[in-house]
Amino acid sequence: MKLTWKLTVFLVLGTLVVTAAVAAVRIRQETGSFEADIRQDNDLLGRAVAAAARRMWETAGEAQALALVKEANERETQVEIRWVWLNAPSGDKSGPAVDRRRLAVLERGEVAVLRLPDPTKGQDVLYTFVPVRIPGDRRAAIELGESLAKERAFVRGMIGNVVVTTFLIVVVCGAIAMGLGVFFVGRPVRALVEQARRVGHGDLASRTALRPGDELGDLSREMNAMCDQLAAANGKIASETAARLATIEQLRHADRLMTVGKLASGIAHELGTPINVVAGRAQLIADDHEPGTPAHDNAAIVIEQAERMATIIRQLLDFARRQPAKKSRQPLHPVVAQTVDMLTPMARKRGIDLVVEEVDEGLVANLDPSQLQQVVINLVVNGIHAMRESGTVSLGIGREHVTPPPEHGGGAGDYLSVRVRDQGVGIPEEVVPHIFEPFFTTKDVGDGTGLGLSVAYGIVQEHSGWITVDSKVGKGSCFTVYLPQEGA
Ligand SMILES: Nc1ncnc2c1ncn2[C@@H]1O[C@H](COP(=O)(O)OP(=O)(O)OP(=O)(O)O)[C@@H](O)[C@H]1O
Ligand SMILES: [Mg+2]
Repeated sequence: MKLTWKLTVFLVLGTLVVTAAVAAVRIRQETGSFEADIRQDNDLLGRAVAAAARRMWETAGEAQALALVKEANERETQVEIRWVWLNAPSGDKSGPAVDRRRLAVLERGEVAVLRLPDPTKGQDVLYTFVPVRIPGDRRAAIELGESLAKERAFVRGMIGNVVVTTFLIVVVCGAIAMGLGVFFVGRPVRALVEQARRVGHGDLASRTALRPGDELGDLSREMNAMCDQLAAANGKIASETAARLATIEQLRHADRLMTVGKLASGIAHELGTPINVVAGRAQLIADDHEPGTPAHDNAAIVIEQAERMATIIRQLLDFARRQPAKKSRQPLHPVVAQTVDMLTPMARKRGIDLVVEEVDEGLVANLDPSQLQQVVINLVVNGIHAMRESGTVSLGIGREHVTPPPEHGGGAGDYLSVRVRDQGVGIPEEVVPHIFEPFFTTKDVGDGTGLGLSVAYGIVQEHSGWITVDSKVGKGSCFTVYLPQEGA
């Protein structure tokens, strides 16, 4: 609005200056030509009267000549015509109305024109003196005096005209400039200011739709483009921040797993030998006694429990990856098929079907079959345990285009997948982050060690892969192991 006002004021001032200058020039020209007309008229009139008076003087004498001039004066309304004696004593009424010294040209027979102010009337009077040659010494002239009051009135009228015209021009131009300014500048600028304010408050969806074709339209288009870029940059920053936070969380998680793993492997290592000793001695006792005797039976229980402990220790050592994976180019399908064969009896007992679906038999990976089998066994056993009633645990292997998690690194690409899906109890959201931790279990004491998934995690990591979990409480869970393709 302020811009519109400024534009309007400058436009009006400009118009005013131009109109005033044009009017001043015109007034000057008009008054000039007005006076020139009067001079010419009076010159002609004076010469005519002077010639007639001179002829009259010559033919009829002085009195008739003076009477002629008097009569001419009576006929003329605008101009006062007088016979004047140039050598009349000063102050004499028959002398000229002006200072005689200014009439020297008359001596040479020329016409004298003088513009003099008339203090009694407050305006200028134009005097024209035409010399009259008469016999004798006396010198006479015809004096014509015309008041310039009309000229003044004319100028005043013209100024009035100019003022009214200028006023109308100013009002009309001002109104047009104001209207156009509001329409072409005020409104679009207000819309742009509004948009800038909204963008400042973070509303990047804000857009202005100004007509293209002028600078403000270009500005609007640029601002819209800027909003798009800002929104895109914001989205990128948000997703990068989220990814970074997720990475930090994952790294923390991996770090925790590693620490606990080291601790566990240390303990397992220390316990391995004594347990072997315990089992060996118990075997000796059992061998020394007849089966059915209390000593033999007790020794058998000791052996059984020692074996259980040894299994746990083996799992711990697996978790700590004491034995490096012996990887080679292997087909994926047999690993899954053997696992299913192995676990089918256990599943049947619980009324659960183990089903292999989506099998692509041609998939090959660089893997240690026994270690990968351990992974699949752990996942399938967990699935079976999670099902309180009969149902299906299904397995599938395939190839998928996925993006690895941040802590794994690498870009999106094709990876091999081994999927184990159950219809069990599912995993609560707050539990999911802990399931890969060693010794994390929700099972009763003696039912689970909480090592199955941490072992699987370690093995898969060693195979340069990762595991994802998708679970819904009451609906079931789906664990997917991703492995790089052979040759990738
Ligand atoms: N398929 C699943 N459905 C529901 N919960 C699961 C599933 N798989 C794992 N869990 C949860 O994750 C926990 C950890 O699993 P993990 O296999 O590491 O240990 P575990 O099964 O408890 O013991 P084990 O050492 O005998 O495997 C489980 O106790 C269970 O709460
Ligand atoms: Mg388990």
